[in-house]
Amino acid sequence: MIRHAPSAASGGHPAEARPASTRPASTRPASTRAAVAPPARIVAIASGKGGVGKTWFAITLSHALARAGRRVLLFDGDFGLANVDIQLGLTPPHDLAKVIAGRVGLRDAAMPHAEGGFAILAGRSGSGLLSSLDAATVDWITASLREAAAGYDIVLLDLGAGLEPPVRRLAAGADALLVVATEEPTSLTDAYAVLKLHAADRGDTAPAPRVVINQAANRAAGERTFATLQRASETFLGRTPRLLGVVRRDDHVRDAIRRQSLLLTRHPSCAAAEDVEQVARALLAGGALA
Ligand SMILES: Nc1ncnc2c1ncn2[C@@H]1O[C@H](COP(=O)(O)OP(=O)(O)O)[C@@H](O)[C@H]1O
Ligand SMILES: [Mg+2]
Repeated sequence: MIRHAPSAASGGHPAEARPASTRPASTRPASTRAAVAPPARIVAIASGKGGVGKTWFAITLSHALARAGRRVLLFDGDFGLANVDIQLGLTPPHDLAKVIAGRVGLRDAAMPHAEGGFAILAGRSGSGLLSSLDAATVDWITASLREAAAGYDIVLLDLGAGLEPPVRRLAAGADALLVVATEEPTSLTDAYAVLKLHAADRGDTAPAPRVVINQAANRAAGERTFATLQRASETFLGRTPRLLGVVRRDDHVRDAIRRQSLLLTRHPSCAAAEDVEQVARALLAGGALA
């Protein structure tokens, strides 16, 4: 339980006051580029239901964006079971719980994934932390994330499963929402619930949510699945989500996860790798951010 949540107005923990020069190189803003580059866009990745492949997708998308030359921070808000550090076999020195407890600044808590070329801010496995946070703490996390985002081109938030108020609030504080769903009816129902809550939280102020259909039998099947979700959203919410891409079901994904490795390194030309790279291109073309 978090008792003494720092407030957004407090300006951050003392740890964040450390001069930039003492920060690890990977988290230090790139001098001239940071000065002229627009602030990183924060993209929340949600699914409602667990087990759709969201964490794997968030990792692989981070890798694809890094390979495209972008500075990426992957924020692991999935405090459930198979989270980012476990999928990648990492032992992060810091995690979000430490950040919230004020023991380390959010910027300094991010660890580089050397092979992937992106940074990771770990959650904490099994802690259920995110769902127990109050609104002030979530807002403080969002504000800290915006500050840390100055050193990156894009920040991806793996929100984890569930639709509790803190998860919703974190999603609503992001610049864009990306919903991952599969063709399973329970996943589609949950994806619809995410769209509905996001519409209630953000109204028309947010860009239209983007959808990725994962584990599709093929592209056409994925597009049909998306059409079902889109119809429901249009009919009942009056909002039209857009399809960012379809990722095909591919046994190489399971193999990469089992070996705690990155799919784009291990099986760079498999179907799912190709699909995630296409999603990354669509995202960079403004697909999720416009
Ligand atoms: N495109 C895919 N093809 C085949 N299996 C997949 C694919 N995407 C995800 N999976 C499988 O789904 C499982 C759940 O993935 P995970 O990233 O932990 O989901 P979530 O974060 O949504 O709970 C993993 O075991 C993974 O192997
Ligand atoms: Mg997950």
